[in-house]
Amino acid sequence: MANEPYDTVDTDVLVIGAGGAGQRAAIAAAEAGCQVLVVCKSLLGKAHTVMAEGGMAAALANVAGADTWEVHFQDTMKGGKLINNWRMAHIHATEAPERVLELERWGAVFDRTREGYIHQRPFGAHTYPRLAHIGDRTGLEIIRSLQDHLVHMPNIEVHMETTVSSLLTWEGRAVGALAYRRVDGALVVYRAKAVLLATGGAGRIYRVTSNSWECTGDGVALAYHAGAQLQDCEMVQFHPTGMVWPPGVRGILVTEGVRGEGGILRNSRGERFMVNYDPERMDLSSRDVVARAINAEVEAGRGSPHGGAFLDISHKSPEYIRRKLPSMYEQFLKLAKVDITKEPMEVAPTIHYFMGGVRVGAEDGATTVPGLFAAGEVASGLHGANRLGGNSLSDLLVFGKRAGDAAAVFAQDHAGPVKIDRAQVERAIEELLGPLHRPDGESPFALEEELRDVCTEYAPLIRDREGLEKGLERTLELAERAARCSAGGPTGRAFNPGWHTAQDLRNMLVSAEALFRCALERKESRGAHARRDYPDLDPKLEAVNMVAQKSEGGMACFPVEREPIPDELRAIIDKKFPRFELEEGS
Ligand code: FUM
Repeated sequence: MANEPYDTVDTDVLVIGAGGAGQRAAIAAAEAGCQVLVVCKSLLGKAHTVMAEGGMAAALANVAGADTWEVHFQDTMKGGKLINNWRMAHIHATEAPERVLELERWGAVFDRTREGYIHQRPFGAHTYPRLAHIGDRTGLEIIRSLQDHLVHMPNIEVHMETTVSSLLTWEGRAVGALAYRRVDGALVVYRAKAVLLATGGAGRIYRVTSNSWECTGDGVALAYHAGAQLQDCEMVQFHPTGMVWPPGVRGILVTEGVRGEGGILRNSRGERFMVNYDPERMDLSSRDVVARAINAEVEAGRGSPHGGAFLDISHKSPEYIRRKLPSMYEQFLKLAKVDITKEPMEVAPTIHYFMGGVRVGAEDGATTVPGLFAAGEVASGLHGANRLGGNSLSDLLVFGKRAGDAAAVFAQDHAGPVKIDRAQVERAIEELLGPLHRPDGESPFALEEELRDVCTEYAPLIRDREGLEKGLERTLELAERAARCSAGGPTGRAFNPGWHTAQDLRNMLVSAEALFRCALERKESRGAHARRDYPDLDPKLEAVNMVAQKSEGGMACFPVEREPIPDELRAIIDKKFPRFELEEGS
């Protein structure tokens, strides 16, 4: 396998991933004067960003005049159960409004209030109606607006359907990546002055998920193998409402916008059960609470026929439902033959988002590897133990821009020629092509299915030590088998799905191992991480994040203390803000 030919492509900033964060970062770096290359394994804009349907959180105060960055900061910190990076939460709350307005200037057509301002709808655990939205297609409209802007920038080039398999480093600094073109299997070495990860999460390590096939934790694995630290990987979000029936659509997202528009959850007895779990916020409680409440109703024998709950919005007028929730109306009609203007939807929790990921600096998205930056879901910190709905879209714009700015500065400060370690490239090629040269190895598809079973069974909504230990053991055993797996079937490189899956699998295994290790380490229940054997919060663990890192003996996982919250921000978290009742029809 030595001396395999490859193309070499040079750029200033290499952005890996082309969803919202990647596109916003690319625009920022290009505006700073850098040559930018965006590489994505799928198509430009085909990303999990579109699954944030209900809106983008920003304290614009268009519907609730009392909203301010302080209230948004408080909601985000409380929702994250205080293990958030408070610097990120502060930056996010103060900068989100400008990022929304910028997007509007770039062409995003938001829904309007009667007075003509950007409309904002209520969402779970946000004190005030705060989600700027475009019906229930907000993520899609954001991607469309970013894409429209990006394609007109002459110094941004996009390489689609190109999978990055390894990052390249020189003396500890990120200097590029090895990739292959999915269409013909040709190898490419990208040389870059700075590298930015925006690859999203790893939802595909679970069986039931709202995530599309791209979400295999690629950035987390790339960063980990390059020596970067990961953080809070135990914090995996179950969105409370995914479709459950028919089986072929299980996991597809049912936007929180349904509850934002007044949708009500009921059990099989017709009871509005959220009154027992969060009597104040009810259906608009935080996602961790609502998901566990549905789970508890099912366990108590009060679930819907296919193991979930009923979500009903049919008390609103059909015209209103079709205007505010057009995608949900179409989705249920076409996929489940349910008319949501007349009957309830059947819903159950679905894996949606990874709060954990690559550990980054709050201001610049810098990872612990010089020259390597990360933004969006692949990065960790803003959301702590539980992300509030709508905070991901503002996250990817705020921190996509900041990471893009910082990567540009780094590239400009390191303007000299980029050096590549040829031996490192050879090793990376050997690893990449390995599955094509092992015709008798196990099928990566079968191993991937096993991994999904392991994560689903041993890292569920409510975990315990015994299950987590078993999950870790099974994951390590799968990793050994995956290292010897075959591409299966054809050995050619052109559009070889077995080969692609072998790459995905390698990445998924890193996210799964980090999840089990961090989850074992956090011996308490906090946000999305609920443990049957440690059902309470441990106040001591509020001060730490769980960090995972490559070490000689494999993956090490240990708690790291966070910088304490300054008094003036702590006072904001403890402050009481007035409640707000939305006028009917507004
Ligand atoms: O329910 C939703 O529309 C999802 C939004 C989000 O994840 O931010």
